[in-house]
Amino acid sequence: MAGNPRKDEISGVDTTGHEWDGIEELNNPLPRWWLWVLYASVIWSIGYWIAMPAWPGISDYTKGMLGYSQRQTVMNELAEVKAGRADIEAKIVASSLEDIAKDPNLNQYALAAGQAAFGDNCAGCHGSGAQGAKGYPNLNDDHWLWGGSLEDIHYTINYGIRSTHDETRFNDMTAFLTNEILEKQEISDVAEYVLSLSGTSTDSEAAQRGAPIFEDNCVACHNPGGVGNREMGAPNLSDKLWLFGGDKETVVQSIAYGRKGVMPTWEARLDPVTIKALSIYVHSLGGGE
Ligand code: HEC
Ligand code: HEC
Repeated sequence: MAGNPRKDEISGVDTTGHEWDGIEELNNPLPRWWLWVLYASVIWSIGYWIAMPAWPGISDYTKGMLGYSQRQTVMNELAEVKAGRADIEAKIVASSLEDIAKDPNLNQYALAAGQAAFGDNCAGCHGSGAQGAKGYPNLNDDHWLWGGSLEDIHYTINYGIRSTHDETRFNDMTAFLTNEILEKQEISDVAEYVLSLSGTSTDSEAAQRGAPIFEDNCVACHNPGGVGNREMGAPNLSDKLWLFGGDKETVVQSIAYGRKGVMPTWEARLDPVTIKALSIYVHSLGGGE
């Protein structure tokens, strides 16, 4: 409520004349420190408007005398990263796989890039930890269908296996029943022989009958003793590790109907740096030779 300003007897300060239920407002001056902070802020803000980008205009904004721009800073940083990357990628293109693996910088870059590309392109078939699945080989162990050297792995990734590329690795497991090369009974016997190679056969008579069948039909690709042949991508059949499965029924299936595992070619889909990085990464997983 407005009243008449007067001097307050107790404090000796003028009142503003505002009064609420008997409580009157004193007209004290603002504290000095507060005023100084206010003046300093006003001066600072004027300096800031002049130095830094501040006022919006119709089509643009005032740039300030320092020419500061966060966007420009980000662009510069990006350009720097890109230049650094282009540099390292040019080195990767120019270096052999062995040299990349030996150079700590290039190797580190390749491992990181390879891991990322693996997650994007390979994990769907080989598993996120490259552990594989039925029909999709585990890439962590040192059992290789086609070879585990840097060069072998690079070739496989580039051209694929039974892929659409002219240079693809290629060799089919023959379908012995479909192609009427063997009878059902012979297939059952040779399957027992295959199981006996890893000590998992339960019928030694059948395995004995299967031995000559194996000799006649299988050693050309799988080698005597079924130890496998990388030239032909023919798996080792004596090591208890199976690509498709080691129970009798699955082994019979492999022999009767053949197998055609397809690994795509990546030559046209990934750039050479990424394919080299993937080779280094896969080679590093544990089975590199
Ligand atoms: C569509 C499924 C699929 C995808 C995607 C795939 N692979 Fe494969 N990969 C296979 C199959 C199937 C084989 C085994 C082929 C065979 O039976 O010989 C294989 C085999 C391989 C081998 C050879 C293993 C050996 O023992 O010699 C390597 C190395 C490999 N893949 C790496 C990769 C990499 C790296 C990628 C990602 C760029 C990838 N694969 C993506 C299906 C796939
Ligand atoms: C022309 C070469 C060739 C001949 C001949 C051949 N194989 Fe194979 N075999 C392969 C290849 C290649 C694979 C792998 C197929 C794939 O990965 O798609 C394979 C796979 C297999 C597998 C699956 C192995 C696993 O780890 O799951 C079995 C079992 C097998 N062969 C048994 C035989 C037997 C028994 C014979 C003879 C009756 C035979 N193979 C003859 C090339 C051959």
